[in-house]
Amino acid sequence: MSEVHVLLLPGDGIGPEVVAAAQRVLELVGHRTGYRFVFSEDLVGGAAIDAYGTPLRDETIEMALRSDAVFLGAVGGPKWDHLPKATRPEAGLLRLRKELGLFANLRPVRVFDPLADATPLKPEIVRGVDLIVVRELTGGLYFGQPSELRREPTGRWAIDTLPYREEEIARIVDLAFQLARARRRKVTSVDKANVLNTSALWREVASEIGQRYPDVTLEHALVDSCAMRLVARPRDFDVLVMENLFGDILSDEAAVLAGSLGMLPSASLHGQPPQRPGSPAVRFGLYEPVHGSAPDIAGKGIANPIGAILSAALLVRWTLGNERAATAIEQAVEETLASGARTADLARPGEPAMGTEAFTDRLLERL
Ligand code: NAI
Ligand code: MG
Repeated sequence: MSEVHVLLLPGDGIGPEVVAAAQRVLELVGHRTGYRFVFSEDLVGGAAIDAYGTPLRDETIEMALRSDAVFLGAVGGPKWDHLPKATRPEAGLLRLRKELGLFANLRPVRVFDPLADATPLKPEIVRGVDLIVVRELTGGLYFGQPSELRREPTGRWAIDTLPYREEEIARIVDLAFQLARARRRKVTSVDKANVLNTSALWREVASEIGQRYPDVTLEHALVDSCAMRLVARPRDFDVLVMENLFGDILSDEAAVLAGSLGMLPSASLHGQPPQRPGSPAVRFGLYEPVHGSAPDIAGKGIANPIGAILSAALLVRWTLGNERAATAIEQAVEETLASGARTADLARPGEPAMGTEAFTDRLLERL
């Protein structure tokens, strides 16, 4: 039986509540597939500040590097809002992603049929949507140098820079093609090639990588018109890949399609397998729901666990390479929703809502 080592970092607010749900799902998947999940756990974010005076300890990074995957809840809350930016809970999360070299951030957006009327868009537009935004996470405009704000006697002045080396573009685009191959075989490479040199390079490299995947269709799209299509004809898309800032913006836009913030999973991937000797994993990754710590509902047991549970499905798919078990989890989510089960964020006014544990119980029965 192969062991899978997962570091749990539940964090703050509803983080521990939804991570517990995801852990139950992984344990059941383990029983059914022959993996033995070995969980370790540590504090991160506000919880780590309270216990250790820092949002992320070096020991935690070492624990992550000895694991096959990291599963994170959420960090932050009003209790720590007064702290300076560099020592706040969120700083721990940013440092963790950077130290682990996670260059690809993936946000799949899938509209489950029972929720097609739960979004602000028309049901006929969102029904059947199933796409992934792949965002380059460790380069581009957010890391380019020089980056500076000057206050000079002649006036204020600021600069940010958008640099990319061809290998940085190649590795993220290649990952997008690998993902597309296991899906509907279409990659949309997003850029602003009519204006930016980096985008001209991006387009060139994307086309070169595309030649290695003759079975996958490559389309180039300008980021502005792509933003329109994402809400006008979202079903057009399968895998979208783009620069850091473009990805930050379009992934939030795409999130609207799913109905509730509590529905959305994410993965931050490395191109390589984990460093742990004997690991069965094909790729190291950090998995977390997209939502934050939701202080307004924390401790009440009513958080929607779907974002976390779908993140567990991504771990099974991309770190373990087990497509069948990942699909089974997603199908259990769909069936649970189809049975009428709703957490408070999804229920219509007057409709009964289930708590986090009761919803997870129902889902485990389906699974
Ligand atoms: P949030 O995502 O925590 O909450 C926004 C709204 O959505 C709230 O009304 C909340 O109750 C609701 N919500 C979120 N997740 C839900 C779920 N699973 N089930 C039901 N309802 C859910 O964002 P907000 O309020 O802006 O931030 C709260 C704290 O979380 C802040 O300290 C922020 O910095 C932090 N945060 C952390 C993130 C992370 O750890 N990755 C991401 C976003 C925010
Ligand atoms: Mg954002």
